[in-house]
Amino acid sequence: MNDDDHVCLCFHVTRHKVMQFIRAERPKKASQLSECYGAGTGCGWCRPFLEKMMQESDPAEAELPEASVYAKERATYRQK
Ligand code: FES
Repeated sequence: MNDDDHVCLCFHVTRHKVMQFIRAERPKKASQLSECYGAGTGCGWCRPFLEKMMQESDPAEAELPEASVYAKERATYRQK
């Protein structure tokens, strides 16, 4: 996934925006990422990935799936 790809597809929040938020605000809990344009407050698909980004000392280091795979898996998740 590139920095301009959406981590939170519900609210169109890019990986770059999440990285900037984590670096600037240093949230203690993943739920605080909701303050980043509502990330994670929709379908819930992105929450594990947001947590993964928070767990890295540098959020840019988090391994996230390729954008098309990520979107396809989310579509499957939403159908359940
Ligand atoms: S993809 Fe982030 S809440 Fe749905």
